[in-house]
Amino acid sequence: MPATARHLAELPPDQRRAALAGLSAEDLQRLEYEWRFWARPDQLPPEGDWRTFLLLGGRGAGKTKSASEWIRAEMESGRRRNMGIIGPTADAVRRIMIEGPSGLLSVCPPWCRPSYEPSTRRIVWPNGGVVYAFSAEEPDRLRGPNFDGHWCDEITSWANAADVWDMLQMALRIPGPQGHPRRRVSSAQRRRTSRCSSRSWRHQARSSAAPGPPTTPATWMPVLSPTCKTSTEILD
Ligand SMILES: Nc1ncnc2c1ncn2[C@@H]1O[C@H](COP(=O)(O)OP(=O)(O)OP(=O)(O)O)[C@@H](O)[C@H]1O
Ligand SMILES: [Mg+2]
Repeated sequence: MPATARHLAELPPDQRRAALAGLSAEDLQRLEYEWRFWARPDQLPPEGDWRTFLLLGGRGAGKTKSASEWIRAEMESGRRRNMGIIGPTADAVRRIMIEGPSGLLSVCPPWCRPSYEPSTRRIVWPNGGVVYAFSAEEPDRLRGPNFDGHWCDEITSWANAADVWDMLQMALRIPGPQGHPRRRVSSAQRRRTSRCSSRSWRHQARSSAAPGPPTTPATWMPVLSPTCKTSTEILD
C-alpha cells in the first residue's frame, strides 16, 4: 500500500484497485482514520523543536482538520494531557472545533473516541487526557488554567486578539510529558489571491521548558496577509 493518499492517487487505475482490494474491511476503517496517509505535507506539524506553528489557508484548505488531528495525536499518544482550544465565539468552538465535520469528535476513531461534556466544556479522552474549550469572547476564563498545549482557531476573527493572546501566554506553562508546551494556530487568510505556494521556516528555536518572551500577535500579524493558498510557519 502506498504511504500516502497522493501516492495512491498517482498509481494507474488497475494498480490502485489492486492496492485497495488487498485490504480487509478493518484495514479500510483504520485507513480512514490514518491522518498521515491523508494529510498534505503542509498540514502536518514539522519535526524538531518548535513552540508555535501557524497554518494559514483559504476557505476549506483543511486548517481545522489539521489542528484537530494534531490534538487527537497528542492526546491519544499521551504526549500531552491538558490542552486548550480557543475559538472566536463559544458557538464556533462547539459547532466547528468540537462537533463540526473537521472537529475533534469527528476526527477520532470509534475505538478511541473522547467524550464531550458541554456543561464543563471539557473533552475527555479514554486515557484521561483532557481538552478544555474556551471562547476568545471570555478572556477572563483563561486566567486560571494551565495547559501543555493549545489550539487557536480563526484567530483573525477574535475580538481583543492581543489581550486574549497575552492571557494565553500565561496559560501555556506546563511542559507536556514529552517536553515544552506547544500551540497550533490556524486561520483563514484575509485576502483573495490566485497564487498557490507554501512556505515553512524556523523563526526562532527554543529548547527550554520556560515560556520565554511572549510572541505577541504584533510579531506575526503581518504574515496574515499572505499571497499563497496555504502557508505554514514556525513562529517560535
Ligand atoms: N488532507 C485531507 N484529505 C482529505 N480531506 C481533507 C483533508 N484536509 C481537509 N479535508 C476535508 O476538507 C474539508 C474542509 O476541511 P476544514 O474544515 O479543515 O477546512 P478549513 O480550512 O478549516 O475550512 P474553513 O475555511 O471553513 O474554516 C473537510 O471536510 C475536511 O474533512
Ligand atoms: Mg476551519
